[in-house]
Amino acid sequence: MDVRIAVLPGDGVGPEVTAEAVACLGAVAEGFGHRFEFQEALIGGAAVDATGDPLPEATLALCRASAAVLLGAVGGPAWDRHPRNQRPESGLLRLRQALGLYANLRPVAVHPALEDASPLKPEIVRGTDLMFVRELSGGLYFGEPRSYSDEAAVNTLPYTRMEITRVAKMAFELAAVRRQRLVSVDKANVLETSRLWRKVVDDLAPTYPQVTLQHAYVDSFAMALITRPRDFDVVLTENLFGDILSDEAAVLAGSLGLLPSASLGGSVGLFEPIHGSAPDIAGQDRANPIGTILSAAMLLRHGLGLEAEAAAVESAVNAVLHAGHGTGDLQGARHAHGTRSLGALIREGIRSSVAVALRH
Ligand code: NAD
Ligand code: IPM
Ligand code: MN
Repeated sequence: MDVRIAVLPGDGVGPEVTAEAVACLGAVAEGFGHRFEFQEALIGGAAVDATGDPLPEATLALCRASAAVLLGAVGGPAWDRHPRNQRPESGLLRLRQALGLYANLRPVAVHPALEDASPLKPEIVRGTDLMFVRELSGGLYFGEPRSYSDEAAVNTLPYTRMEITRVAKMAFELAAVRRQRLVSVDKANVLETSRLWRKVVDDLAPTYPQVTLQHAYVDSFAMALITRPRDFDVVLTENLFGDILSDEAAVLAGSLGLLPSASLGGSVGLFEPIHGSAPDIAGQDRANPIGTILSAAMLLRHGLGLEAEAAAVESAVNAVLHAGHGTGDLQGARHAHGTRSLGALIREGIRSSVAVALRH
């Protein structure tokens, strides 16, 4: 396969973690005989500093002309006082919307070697295997009217039947090929938007008779998620609930730095870790690159349809974790690494698994 991949490193630890993921994709290309042309572009604070715009036209054009987009993270204290349109985060939100990415997949699995990495008891987190499906291009993030003054501010939470249907379908379809369980998270006891959400999800349920559907209120689900996470399989949420709950779920996995995501629904997918620019550790070779490397695996699977290649990356990550390697955020990792040396180990794993596969 000969494709262009847009790489948007962004801010803070973004460039450090994307460098490791790109190197892993390079090892995949070499091992499997593909040609990936990586093309970098500016986004976020880096783009604001260089051009005044957190999503320059050239970046959007590159993304549209690529087979997939790999992104690090955006934001940081340097831009926190900028007006909304010149904040790094608004560049990312515009990119998601411009590419039509309405579904954000955030898998959360607990690796057996990391059962002690969570502050929760091992018997609670053991065996957790969740797939969050977060609505990504609607809700409070984009709702109008919105306004701000120092005395009063407004945000709006709109959803249409069409917007709920398309993301809910994706969640049902994922549940059907996983463990056939779907929990839809809402606040239907208070919010009209959530009442519609629940109605639309219920209307779809008969189309997927093999999937057991359950509804949960977001407040009690936030508790259930960290007290009995094994009870759940696919979790469907609106935009803001999914943002919050997926960071909470990172506690199950052992670190925010481990979790990847895939944003789908348009013609080009966007793949990024769920964490932010981590300004507190940026530039120190301390960030965990695994969330971004696993995002690169999702890029291979969902963006390019390369399943064996995705699996090679995931097994290299699993092997490295199994052997007790990790960055400082992983409690109890027996072998301490920086961003670069952990990335290099994973890359080696990809190379040797390809070599073994070729011998058979
Ligand atoms: P954050 O996710 O950047 O960091 C939260 C905590 O997790 C920090 O202690 C950080 O050191 C740690 N952490 C995050 N990623 C890590 C990694 N790979 N390895 C090890 N530790 C890691 O959240 P925040 O501090 O609330 O936000 C910082 C900036 O990032 C803000 O400007 C925010 O808007 C932005 N942000 C961007 C994205 C994105 O680009 N998708 C996501 C979340 C936050
Ligand atoms: C995420 C981030 C973003 C979001 C911010 C930076 C706009 O928190 O990707 O989870 O809220 O979607
Ligand atoms: Mn978030």
